[in-house]
Amino acid sequence: MKVTVVGAGNVGATVAECVARLDMVKDVVLIDIVEGMPQGKALDMMQAAPIHLYDTRVLGTNDYADTAGSDICVITAGLPRKPGMSRDDLLAKNASIVKSVTEQFVAQSPDAIIIVVSNPLDVMTYVAYMTSGFPSNRVMGMAGILDTARFRAFLAMELGVSVKDIQALLMGGHGDTMVPLPRYTTVAGIPLTELLDEKKINEIVYRTKVGGGEIVKLEGTSAWYAPGAAAAQMVEAIVKDSGRVFPCAVWLNGQYGQEGIFIGAPARLGKNGIEEIIEVDLDKAELEMMNSSAKHVHDNLAALERILNG
Ligand code: LAC
Repeated sequence: MKVTVVGAGNVGATVAECVARLDMVKDVVLIDIVEGMPQGKALDMMQAAPIHLYDTRVLGTNDYADTAGSDICVITAGLPRKPGMSRDDLLAKNASIVKSVTEQFVAQSPDAIIIVVSNPLDVMTYVAYMTSGFPSNRVMGMAGILDTARFRAFLAMELGVSVKDIQALLMGGHGDTMVPLPRYTTVAGIPLTELLDEKKINEIVYRTKVGGGEIVKLEGTSAWYAPGAAAAQMVEAIVKDSGRVFPCAVWLNGQYGQEGIFIGAPARLGKNGIEEIIEVDLDKAELEMMNSSAKHVHDNLAALERILNG
């Protein structure tokens, strides 16, 4: 199997490293327009292989010919957020980058599965979908694993329990309108709502929603360790055809009352990409949050249309 990672910045390099360390695919190709950087990072990862003990070959390149015949592509290309920016501020610039890299990638690998990481995530996944012409099971966005990981990390810190015992579900767009679902969150099978009071849960939900921004403020740029690991986890589920269920940005066609957008919902991942979108019951308040998150994605799509049509 061959995995291409587009964009050799912090997130892309972390995806490549995480995939290599899983030692499950023959080739990882790291591609970027910046000359030398993908080659250097790939060489560094090849030199880490005798320590981490993986046989995956990591190739850095500026030439899409090297990506030919890829099974999976992770698109991380685009500008990251800087302090004071929202993900939406990246819309116009990143849409043209994602469109261009998708065209170049798809020309070499028409049968691949695409995972988008660039922001604003839900709209960039839409751009990759429209540009690729791929069926909707072969295009998805990574956000839900990252957002649930943040939620789980904060819960583990609060409760003093292992992150391994926390299962959480979160839906909606990758932005401050995301929809964490404490009702569907458990600690070793115990509903979260039995372990924390509503006020504490709301505080943690809020910190999760602005979790990306908290890191941008601290570091001056967007996060990469958790986003990179999250995208690699989606790659792993597809490569191993494992059937793991993760919240992913998926094309909705009536599910959850939404149509014609990519937005986060629980999905089963396997060799065909999105094998199934799982519909869980949402109560009135949860559905309202989902609707308002979907409206935000629709508004962003409309803003993109306006930009594209001058
Ligand atoms: C974040 C970026 C990757 O949430 O959107 O950190």
